[in-house]
Amino acid sequence: MDFVGSHILSVDQFARADIEHIFRVADDMQPYADRDRVTRVLQGAILSNMFFEPSTRTRISFGSAFNMLGGEVRETTEVAASSLTKGESLYDTARVLSGYSDVIVMRHPEAGSVAEFAKASRVPVINAGDGPNEHPSQALLDLYTIRKEMESRGRAIDDLRIALVGDLRYGRAVHSLCKLLALFEHVHYKLVSPPELSLPADIVDSLKAAGHDVREHHELETGIDHVDILYVTRTQEERFPDQDEADRYRGLFRVNQAIYTKNCEPNTVIMHPLPRDSRAQAQELDDDLIENPNLAIFRQTDNGVLIRMALFALVLDVADQVHNHAQPVTWYTAKRFR
Ligand code: CP
Repeated sequence: MDFVGSHILSVDQFARADIEHIFRVADDMQPYADRDRVTRVLQGAILSNMFFEPSTRTRISFGSAFNMLGGEVRETTEVAASSLTKGESLYDTARVLSGYSDVIVMRHPEAGSVAEFAKASRVPVINAGDGPNEHPSQALLDLYTIRKEMESRGRAIDDLRIALVGDLRYGRAVHSLCKLLALFEHVHYKLVSPPELSLPADIVDSLKAAGHDVREHHELETGIDHVDILYVTRTQEERFPDQDEADRYRGLFRVNQAIYTKNCEPNTVIMHPLPRDSRAQAQELDDDLIENPNLAIFRQTDNGVLIRMALFALVLDVADQVHNHAQPVTWYTAKRFR
């Protein structure tokens, strides 16, 4: 695809070559994310970071990524603080904001809302999560993490064996990741969820139609053996029609060190898009895994900055100029990525 000026709304936009292009650009961003160097390639550019749903890592990492490229960030962090509460349409909001910004990142609780917004925007729009639908930048950083973890084991993404555990119905990160993985060869998907929280049938059908091996499991222990990646998700309580229904699934599938040791191959990588629900009654990914070297959840969050820098560099057409505007960092850095 031609990234320049494009909206990034769905992983359906990408071919495998596009993914590999994004990953090459993300690799180039490492010295900046590591704070070895700074670049001013986006000096003067403005990002409108519009989050109409709660977020920690997506909002801050998109903002940090833009700052690390030298740009400035304007934010709205809740619907109540915007004129959407006065009945303003997404169309009008997009027309207005795109006059103030060079690129817009948006999260919104309704499926399809970011695409609708993008139709009226005069600048590129990046989907940071639209309800239960998609979360393309999360899927990209997840896949980038999978690539790195598998490379460190002498493997590629092709022939990957992955178990996806938890709320596969409402989990937008899972939807996007499943579709992205389908661009690779011979992926073995184990879908582990209560029957009511299964992956939507249209996505399952598309994975099978692409020739992949897809098995559904309703028991945790039989679902997580013989896989390279164990990708655990939170029950998306905020998307359930009522809290009583959400309560039924809290804590149903919990992975802890004992379950991991008993059921998983020794090198299985543990991933989670985060946030994980660490309340005692949930604990879908137990704190006792924190010393497990295969726990990749914070490598995922670190990789998020690289991927988001790459997306900005590509849609704003500066990927080839980043190093021309670079200089060494002069302040103390804790080498926090080492
Ligand atoms: N993974 C993710 O989207 O996290 P936030 O909701 O904190 O942005």
